[in-house]
Amino acid sequence: MNNFCIQQYAGVLPARAIDCRECAAAYNTRVFHHTSVLHTAVLTLLAPKRGETVLDVTLGLGGHAKSFLDAIGPSGYLFGLDADQENLVEAGRILAKGASQMDLRHGNFRDLPSFGFSSVDILFADLGLSSPHIDDPARGFSFRSDSALDLRFDRTTGMAAARLIAISTEHELAEVLRQYGEVPSAHLLAQAMKESEIATTVQLKKCVERVRGYRAPAELPRVFQALRIAVNDELGALQILLQEGPKLLNPGGRMGVISYHSLEDRLVKDAFRALATPQKDPTTGAIRTQAPFTLITKKPVRPEASEIAANVRARSAKFRVLQHRLH
Ligand SMILES: C[S@@+](CC[C@H](N)C(=O)[O-])C[C@H]1O[C@@H](n2cnc3c(N)ncnc32)[C@H](O)[C@@H]1O
Repeated sequence: MNNFCIQQYAGVLPARAIDCRECAAAYNTRVFHHTSVLHTAVLTLLAPKRGETVLDVTLGLGGHAKSFLDAIGPSGYLFGLDADQENLVEAGRILAKGASQMDLRHGNFRDLPSFGFSSVDILFADLGLSSPHIDDPARGFSFRSDSALDLRFDRTTGMAAARLIAISTEHELAEVLRQYGEVPSAHLLAQAMKESEIATTVQLKKCVERVRGYRAPAELPRVFQALRIAVNDELGALQILLQEGPKLLNPGGRMGVISYHSLEDRLVKDAFRALATPQKDPTTGAIRTQAPFTLITKKPVRPEASEIAANVRARSAKFRVLQHRLH
């Protein structure tokens, strides 16, 4: 499917045809699949009720969203957002039955204030990538197939990973590898990457293998993760979500975030803690102002071993929930 045809789909529901016949055929025969993580915990802790409004800022293939729709019923409303247009289109198909009670938009949650969403009872984010990103070789997320090294969730904007490598200095690249992937020998690897003119996933894989030898298989996922976080500015976007998201909650509203690595989880933990901490008098220690939110999860909820066994992508998931106080 070419980028032009994907763009025709931006922000519209799937009933609309792709003009180019070749792309329509390619699109329609693709198999999309993603197993939602911590599904039961999400529904139990966010507790969607009849008539409530939900904002899912990482719609993916609509797995969690479908259950939200079922729970809020015909009098409820779902706002959905995803940076990835192809996932958004597929989610539109999957959720088509609820089309009259939902509003799906293409975009990044870093721009949350600009979408003009109304206040909501539930705000949900299930961070990171979805299975189609890995399963579709053309997306350049996997070193198991050869393709352009892209790694963007949103291919209509920003810079592919190959370009990031090309324009970064050796030092900048080493910092990306070190900070976002805790990649050992980051400087040595960054130097080799700059010398190798990397354009594809396999070129990157070979470069890591040259530098890291037998350690490469264990370290490749970290290298790809680091580049993905940088290319999508994932931590910057999350910080904005954590700042702006709680402002959208109705009294009693819940915000839940599933994160997949420690850098994300630390941001969620610290932001939720700060919002749930009362202001105290520095001298007496007496509470001056009640915190506007309460923590529903004192510790993050983790998947059961059975879920991890069935879905390896769940293994690092951590789910935290915050609730707006009822006044
Ligand atoms: C783990 S998947 C969500 C899966 C979904 N909960 C489900 O059950 O099908 C994460 C999704 O978030 C999207 N995404 C990641 N970062 C984003 C951002 N900053 N803004 C909007 N969408 C984002 C990805 O494109 C991907 O589709």
